[in-house]
Amino acid sequence: MIPVILSGGAGTRLWPVSRRSYPKPFMSLPDGETLLEKTAKRALAVADAAAPIITVTARDYGFITRDAYAGIAGFAPERQVMLLEPIARNTAPAILAAALWVQARYGDDAQILVLPADHLIRDLDAFKEAVQRAERLAADGYLGTFGVVPTRPETGYGYIERGPALRESGFEVARFVEKPDLQTAQKYLSSGGFYWNSGMFCFRAGTLLDVANQVCPEVLAPTRGTIQTDHDAASQVLNLDALKQVPDISIDYAIMERATHRAVVPAAFDWSDIGSWNALADLVDADEVGNRRLGNAVFVGAARNYVQSPKRVIAAVGVSDLMIIDTDDALLVAHREQSQSVKQVVDALKQAK
Ligand code: GDD
Ligand code: MG
Repeated sequence: MIPVILSGGAGTRLWPVSRRSYPKPFMSLPDGETLLEKTAKRALAVADAAAPIITVTARDYGFITRDAYAGIAGFAPERQVMLLEPIARNTAPAILAAALWVQARYGDDAQILVLPADHLIRDLDAFKEAVQRAERLAADGYLGTFGVVPTRPETGYGYIERGPALRESGFEVARFVEKPDLQTAQKYLSSGGFYWNSGMFCFRAGTLLDVANQVCPEVLAPTRGTIQTDHDAASQVLNLDALKQVPDISIDYAIMERATHRAVVPAAFDWSDIGSWNALADLVDADEVGNRRLGNAVFVGAARNYVQSPKRVIAAVGVSDLMIIDTDDALLVAHREQSQSVKQVVDALKQAK
């Protein structure tokens, strides 16, 4: 099993802490570890002995990624393969480039486990077990996904409809719908038989590339020009001119929605996508009236607020359900139910420039 860590996204819903220059995977969580460190440890736990662990990320994050990995016991530099993107083209090209690299060196049967760096999974043993099940399905030629039982009509996720049972307590995927609208998400939630797509995938390199050749040749063909696969080329910056020719599309739209022969392994582990301040606030213990703090905060007659402030003292008086996130040069004050809208701040700031 060759893990492929994806960490090239911008994470704009966690502004002002997650920035272009210092994105979400590098943010410290309340326990002091970053999402990237946690993901790398997960990768090490399931990788074949001495197998490379590939990281596909933005060129600008190359050095901070190596720094982060240097602190992880057992993660030898020679196992760290970095595929660095001079421009972002979303997850389909990132994963396909990694698959081309793996296929050239290890052959069609080598298996890939895609691990987004924005997830929190606490139960490592249950995670390993699910990966082993997915590996066996992948060996049979399935595109393996991990399904999470939905708890709300989230529109930021993909939905997987369960089909007939397969071995390894997996199921055939009847339908894959990426980011449905609210009405559709509500319907899926109440009808049962649907999972959230966890965003992790497991497949043979050969399977993924064959499927991509059938369902999205317009993505695969130009991606071939972005990567050097000869034996001298390990870590590398992907070719900019070639990358410009590649469509910007996620694996969910480009491949998972269109493919057949997909399988889902229900996740018996706790999983969360640390996608918004709400998800991050949930990691911090609440006091008796639901206030949570990371850093310096005083609450007076205030309830259900989350305050994060490493330096300045923030006092919240008579307010409820707020997210207050302080940094050196920007302050966010948001209603907790609007935490998905924070990314619009980044759009507004870009336009104002
Ligand atoms: N290298 C690289 N290049 N990585 C990228 C790029 C890119 O251009 N774009 C995104 N990523 C990384 C992100 O950093 C993240 O770790 C992962 O790929 C997934 O991208 P997101 O942008 O976070 O996707 P999403 O959360 O909206 O949706 C995906 O994950 C959901 C679960 O968290 C989909 O797979 C959904 O179906 C799924 O439910
Ligand atoms: Mg995500």
